[in-house]
Amino acid sequence: MNSESPNSLHTPLCSILKCRVPILLAGMGGVARWELASAVADAGGYPTLGMVRESPALIASEVTALRVATDQPFAVNLIPGATDPALLDAQLQQCFELDVTAFSFFWDVMPEVVARVRERGATVLHQVGSVEQALKAQNAGVDVIIAQGIEAGGHVHGRKGSFVLANEIMQETQLPVVIAGGISTGKELAEAIALGAQGVQCGTAFLATDESFAHQYHKQRVVDAVAEETVLTDVFVLNWPKGAAVRVIGNSVTKALDGDLFGHDPDTLPREAIAWDDGVARFRFSTDSPLRTTTGDLEAMSSFAGYSVGAIHAIVPAKKRLEEIERDAADYLSAGMTTDTLRLTKTGVPAWRKLKRTELRATRKSLSVEAHAATSNRIASALEALLSERFNGAVGRVLSMYWPIKGEPDLRDLMSKLHDSGVIIALPLVETKAAPLVFRHWTPLTKMTRGDWNIPVPPPEAEVLIPEIVLAPLVGWDRSGYRLGYGGGYFDKTLAVLDPAPFKIGIGYASARLETIFPQPHDIPMDTILTEAGVFTG
Ligand SMILES: Cc1cc2nc3c(=O)[nH]c(=O)nc-3n(C[C@H](O)[C@H](O)[C@H](O)COP(=O)(O)O)c2cc1C
Repeated sequence: MNSESPNSLHTPLCSILKCRVPILLAGMGGVARWELASAVADAGGYPTLGMVRESPALIASEVTALRVATDQPFAVNLIPGATDPALLDAQLQQCFELDVTAFSFFWDVMPEVVARVRERGATVLHQVGSVEQALKAQNAGVDVIIAQGIEAGGHVHGRKGSFVLANEIMQETQLPVVIAGGISTGKELAEAIALGAQGVQCGTAFLATDESFAHQYHKQRVVDAVAEETVLTDVFVLNWPKGAAVRVIGNSVTKALDGDLFGHDPDTLPREAIAWDDGVARFRFSTDSPLRTTTGDLEAMSSFAGYSVGAIHAIVPAKKRLEEIERDAADYLSAGMTTDTLRLTKTGVPAWRKLKRTELRATRKSLSVEAHAATSNRIASALEALLSERFNGAVGRVLSMYWPIKGEPDLRDLMSKLHDSGVIIALPLVETKAAPLVFRHWTPLTKMTRGDWNIPVPPPEAEVLIPEIVLAPLVGWDRSGYRLGYGGGYFDKTLAVLDPAPFKIGIGYASARLETIFPQPHDIPMDTILTEAGVFTG
């Protein structure tokens, strides 16, 4: 699958970055130089040159060599927050002189740096470790966010899992999101796309390739290690801000910490040269990893690597690594793994539900005023018919209804009509946080007050009732009658304790039907679900 990429893998990001597949080479300092970058580019991925704290002269020679090797686009990675301002200025100046058209930044978002490269029309990718930094990056005007999870190799800025973080960032920002951290397989790329991300960024997976500039020792350690052997620590921190954590494969330095992995101060750590690169000393506790050119005590240096080590079993050409990821991702997506299943495997049920709620509520919000009124009327008629068939009109019985919020079907006219025909109407209230709902009597003359979430509710003097029939508004529902609510769990808590158990009618839109809501032990199914398209009995 070299020339034709299946459409499923061609995300809009590919058009932004002008690459065939949304697999990004991380801008690994020292490691991602022109040879690796050109191999990834020619295989259809998007390369980043790792130029953190490198001299303008090296940037010039690397960019030039890359352009000789390939005519594909690329980005230059810099880390503004961890670079001396004068050097950063010289690096940017050099990039401008070279007409570099894309930058990939990492660590703290520095809006003035983003603005400076954007002024020149450059595309900006920014790797972040939190939603807060993602929002800052969006405000600064970046084009693409790379969500870096705690599984990542090298410097790790956040503390959340990559897919969980990416999911949150996708909820909060409008930008294309790429997932980084622990990714080295096609299944993970498929999962990322299923989650709604537009691609993945891999570091470790490309470190263990023929073309990477890492030392053979480092590559072999990646091949030999399993994820559990990686360690997150701030002991390799010389020349970085205090507290900056890195994920490395454990070695004699991390073992000697005896579990005290954090709290190291770059200003008090000894500066002992243990290795050399072309005559330049590399210190114990520095962030330098062993490169092709390094000699000395390689074992004691930081061998950066992510959880992805577990799936890397050989040093191969970068093209082969990329094509395997691409082929497996396409297989997973075409094997019919549904988007929901893929999402679920990565986020867990609560995060999946959160995402679904957002999607369903957005769909609901897009309903026109007329369509909302027509749908509400149809549901009202269906409810009236149901009450008359099953409960003989429910005259004299307590029926709990609801005051419509957030685009829920509006049944208030029916509420008055049922009251007039002799049905006793109750409305639910949150009177105590996290406790079951309380139901209070409602009539068309009731003077409503504002309750939880600012919803109009009967006043405290209204009589408390125990409903025999309960309407539960639905954000989503499934064919087994399970209900997706707003996530507060109030209806489930209430329905679990009402004795005798009421007859439960879910009220929602036909379009909110899901294959499954992945029911959990606390979820209580409805007896019937009513939508504008009819009655569904679970
Ligand atoms: C050896 C190595 C060096 C790295 N150096 C940098 C760097 O200079 N700049 C940067 O933005 N990210 C750097 N990273 C982090 C990557 O951008 C990315 O977040 C990480 O590789 C993703 O996790 P993975 O290694 O499991 O694929 C480095 C990662 C590794 C493994």
